[in-house]
Amino acid sequence: MQIIILPDSTAIGVWAAGHLMRRLADGRLRVLGVATGSSPLPVYDALAQRLPHSGGRNVRADAESDEDARAAASLTAFALDEYVGISPDRPESYHAVIRGEVTEKLGLDPARVHVPDGTAGDLEKACREYEQLIAEAGGVDLQILGIGATGHLGFNEPSSSFSSRTRVKTLAPQTRRDNARFFTSEEQVPLHCVTQGLGTIMEASELLLVAYGEHKAPAVARAVEGPLTSMCPASIIQWHQDAVVLLDEAAASQLEHLDYYRHVQEHDLLPDQD
Ligand code: F6R
Repeated sequence: MQIIILPDSTAIGVWAAGHLMRRLADGRLRVLGVATGSSPLPVYDALAQRLPHSGGRNVRADAESDEDARAAASLTAFALDEYVGISPDRPESYHAVIRGEVTEKLGLDPARVHVPDGTAGDLEKACREYEQLIAEAGGVDLQILGIGATGHLGFNEPSSSFSSRTRVKTLAPQTRRDNARFFTSEEQVPLHCVTQGLGTIMEASELLLVAYGEHKAPAVARAVEGPLTSMCPASIIQWHQDAVVLLDEAAASQLEHLDYYRHVQEHDLLPDQD
């Protein structure tokens, strides 16, 4: 695991966008896993700066190079999760968030951007089909992740199996409280969601977890330094062979081995920075 501490969320976004652009350029990024919530927004903003586009599609002449533009225009994306029972037209739905923050902002082809179906009549079938779509796309090359106060990844709340696949889950009360800011009240936050499983997420070739702010510090400490346990689902990133954790000072503040991570960052033999 590579732990990188940066001054603020803007710097995190810029670092991540640089990383994603390199992956696009070297052909290692064809299928992008996208998260919703606040954490990835600076990443999408910074990436949009690097991928100028108009009319919902990347314009080759505007992008950094023809090849980058071609690669970006043909990106496939998969969202991690969606609420159950919320119409994709509603602004609180993750369909709507992904449409505005990812598809339109980055100029992706809407036909290649997928979000789990939380309104399907047969949710189990929809979950199986989502897994199949990911497999048919060749799997996720790079998965952007946030972390919840409960330690969730996607909406895999504590006690989620490390080998779980896309399925229906019940949101933890803490998560409903945290996400009430996107709704008119906490009661409006759905009880259930569809989420990629931890097993699904772990199959991505690379993970990029983003966290900033003091409120994330306890969950980050448990995920990065705590025991590998389904009580902190995000601790599974310790098991991934290619995980990068991007933190600001506040989110990193409860890490016991912070000095060591800074030391490693300072003496990185293969710096991955612009
Ligand atoms: C959302 C998701 C969640 C969020 C997490 C943090 O697609 O997968 O795991 O990343 O709840 O949310 P924010 O970033 O809003 O604090």
